[in-house]
Amino acid sequence: MATPANNPHLPFGDQRSAPWYGKDILSVRQFNREDLEYVFAVAHEMRTMVERVGTFDLLKGKILANLFYEPSTRTSSSFVSAMERLGGSVIQINEVRYSSVAKGESLPDTVRTLECYADVIVIRHPEVGSAATAAQYAHKPVINAGDGIGEHPTQALLDLFTVKQELGRIDGLTVTMLGDLKFGRTVHSLARLLSLFKVRLNYVAPEALRMPSGLIGELSAQGLDQSESTRLEDVLPQTDVLYVTRVQKERFESEAAYEAVRGSYVITPDLLKKAKEEMIVMHPLPRVGEIAMEVDQDPRAAYFRQMEYGLYTRMALLAMVLGKA
Ligand code: ASP
Ligand code: CP
Repeated sequence: MATPANNPHLPFGDQRSAPWYGKDILSVRQFNREDLEYVFAVAHEMRTMVERVGTFDLLKGKILANLFYEPSTRTSSSFVSAMERLGGSVIQINEVRYSSVAKGESLPDTVRTLECYADVIVIRHPEVGSAATAAQYAHKPVINAGDGIGEHPTQALLDLFTVKQELGRIDGLTVTMLGDLKFGRTVHSLARLLSLFKVRLNYVAPEALRMPSGLIGELSAQGLDQSESTRLEDVLPQTDVLYVTRVQKERFESEAAYEAVRGSYVITPDLLKKAKEEMIVMHPLPRVGEIAMEVDQDPRAAYFRQMEYGLYTRMALLAMVLGKA
């Protein structure tokens, strides 16, 4: 049977000159439309291979260091799954308090240590710019799995892959981002990626959690069609992608400030009666009440499928930076 490594029809192979070989993935700003087509093509092949054989040896012998300074379920375990489905293995540091970080070891030293043992480092950290700092000190590729309120580039790539798979196109869509647009790093990355397409972006948030004006300015300078509102009802009927987010409790200065905005928006089956028949509801997850569980049965609820697309996207990214795609 053909394996990905020897099948010339698949975008796999030992191509040390591959454009992403050895590169860090720190921000969505690194990607243009052509790059996105490439990521989606590789992710699509990964899906085919997982469905056909489950696990295969494209990254056999390669080791990933999964360094998480903040909680995670999906990003952490999908990178583990991605590496293992590609035949590689993982050094998992989920709770840095059990590592030498608890003794005061710095980020640069932690990264320099892990790269002695691994071929690629995935990092999630509470500070904006932390992944870039890690990359400055590492010789091996560093992948940003969320740097505070900064970016979550692999999430945005899987989000866009989800839109493409579910709706078949990105140009021409109306995307509505809802919830905590101030602290939500996923929407910061996704809005930047969407600015490469001809889309309309609606931002719906409580006054205190509006999309940062600097980011809106950056994207309008690129010609992106954006609007802001506090009322979902104003834009829901025209929406093709409703991207719901959690209010990021851990980023607030006080419990009172969080309580003042929590539960501002809740998606219910009743509310979705006002939405198009052909649209999707996405959420990076975890949800903490923004989408009622009764919505899960609606075929437009794409958030669980979105998680699965994340596996294929992360398999693609690992293969790319390790020179096998
Ligand atoms: N899991 C996503 C993140 O880490 C979204 C969230 O936590 O609300 O950014
Ligand atoms: N979407 C996301 O990043 O989920 P986790 O925080 O569980 O990794």
